[in-house]
Amino acid sequence: MTPTSSDFFDLAVARVRHEASSIAILDMQRADASGLPAWQPGAHIDVRTQDASGKEVVRQYSLCGPQGEDFWRIAVLADTRGRGGSIHLFQTVTQGQKVSVRGPRNHFELPNDDRPLVLVAGGIGITPLLAMADRLHEQGRRFRLHYFARSRHSMAFLDQLMSGPYQEQVRMSFDDGHPTPVESIFSHDDSESWLYTCGPEGFMKSVVSAAQASAVSPSRMRKELFTSDAAAAADTAASCNRAFTVVLRSSGKAIEVPADKTVVHALSDAGVSIVVSCEQGHCGSCLTGVLEGIPDHRDQFMLPEEQERNDAFTPRCSRAVSETLVLDL
Ligand code: FES
Repeated sequence: MTPTSSDFFDLAVARVRHEASSIAILDMQRADASGLPAWQPGAHIDVRTQDASGKEVVRQYSLCGPQGEDFWRIAVLADTRGRGGSIHLFQTVTQGQKVSVRGPRNHFELPNDDRPLVLVAGGIGITPLLAMADRLHEQGRRFRLHYFARSRHSMAFLDQLMSGPYQEQVRMSFDDGHPTPVESIFSHDDSESWLYTCGPEGFMKSVVSAAQASAVSPSRMRKELFTSDAAAAADTAASCNRAFTVVLRSSGKAIEVPADKTVVHALSDAGVSIVVSCEQGHCGSCLTGVLEGIPDHRDQFMLPEEQERNDAFTPRCSRAVSETLVLDL
């Protein structure tokens, strides 16, 4: 039976290749090498792994290999700032090992118009943008890719990018070489372009403000946060929680959300389940409509103008500013 995107299923690790100082590239396929669901650039999968305490956790990885093959490729960074899931995978994965995965899911899709695109990656944020660059090159669309990293040794896919078919459109910057100021990568020629950026939060903030200074419209900016930053943001926000009430549109039922529970958990206790994936506010899986009240947005998935509309929120990590939220459930 073909799995749906909400089911976990097993893949076998066909190849493990180490790149840079702390990145493992995994190619995973079905044990019988039969096909996998199709995916589009920007898609990610969920992977079951373990955190530092041995507890099972789910982590998200962007797909970045060739399309239409019988394997999925992800890049796993042994990130010491994270909560351990990726480090466990990095340290323990071997060829032939089974990995439990779910997906693909895509909240970071390429636009369909013919405007040029500026792709800006910080560190391991290269993975979704690499898949996008491959697709844009195939389609003959106008784009360039800026790739920022701490050092040349920490960059994944370096050879592929430097000798690949669109090498002329790739610009690299290393902090320990001759770093390029982020502010200098845009010009007013980019005012009609799309911006797609992925990396740590601080990095993306400077990319977005540099793009805004060159008149790129916020409505054409898309960003995807690097996972460990999302985890840190969620942990910090959890220390200032307070209780509030959510009301379900369909039944009028009121459910208390205590300070020490998420909306998703409070709803689950009341028999209402919401699909979650990243649990950190960056994948958009739990996005839920809000009909009344003001959410306390703590996600990195929605654009600022989407958050300002207050007509949706991410109940796994976001809460409420108002005493009550009426949800479209
Ligand atoms: S579960 Fe990822 S944003 Fe809610």
